[in-house]
Amino acid sequence: MRLPMIAGNWKMNTTLNEATALVTEMLKGLDAIEGVEKVVCPPFVSLAAIRDLLKGTSVKLGAQNLYFEEKGAYTGEISPLMLAGLCELVIIGHSERRQYFGDTGEVVNRKIRAALKAGLRPILCIGERLEENEAGKTAEVVTEQLKLAMDGIDYPPGFIIAYEPVWAIGTGKAATGEQADETIGLVRRNVSDMYGKEAADGVRILYGGSVTAANTAEFMRQSEIDGALVGGASLKAADFLSIIKQTSEIL
Ligand code: PGA
Repeated sequence: MRLPMIAGNWKMNTTLNEATALVTEMLKGLDAIEGVEKVVCPPFVSLAAIRDLLKGTSVKLGAQNLYFEEKGAYTGEISPLMLAGLCELVIIGHSERRQYFGDTGEVVNRKIRAALKAGLRPILCIGERLEENEAGKTAEVVTEQLKLAMDGIDYPPGFIIAYEPVWAIGTGKAATGEQADETIGLVRRNVSDMYGKEAADGVRILYGGSVTAANTAEFMRQSEIDGALVGGASLKAADFLSIIKQTSEIL
């Protein structure tokens, strides 16, 4: 049995005041829901305040990125050591990082290593772009991304992967449950090839890309999908709550 996870990726949204207000609103319903690992990933500048709000609750905190060096002359960057003790999880390799900020496969690999060394739990994002999908290259692309990201790294206990087709992110055009299930099944087989059956049975693989309260059930009913990484819908307390409630009922 894999514990499902729903993680909210707030991206570059919410001021400090908006972030604390959103979490305060969410906590009214969120804390009581059991059987799902619940995570919010606000912007860096709100992490400390939200950590305080989440103290003593069942909701966990994640960051959206990190830099792989521990400290030094890297103006504007945030190191794994700064995040350790502040949050538990960190999203790495999100397609927006790969697309706009030059996070190559090698960078993603270094970030995963740095996160693990600092005791942070990475949520590794992989997914194909529209043209790759249309060219029938989905399996090839996600296999390659996973291999590069994990090159030379032992299986991290409690590992989490998010399969997020780039064409489904923020577009309102989610994959179908079946499409997502098929690719996530493939990713699980890749994990099995790389790390063995026990790892493949234990790794949690989330779907991400235009997940809403209306389509959550379709994804959670699939056998391979262990939860969701939610962008837009995680910015509305009622929607995020509904996604988590439905997940706890189905999985
Ligand atoms: P979305 O984003 O739910 O807004 O499509 C998902 C993500 O990028 O993690």
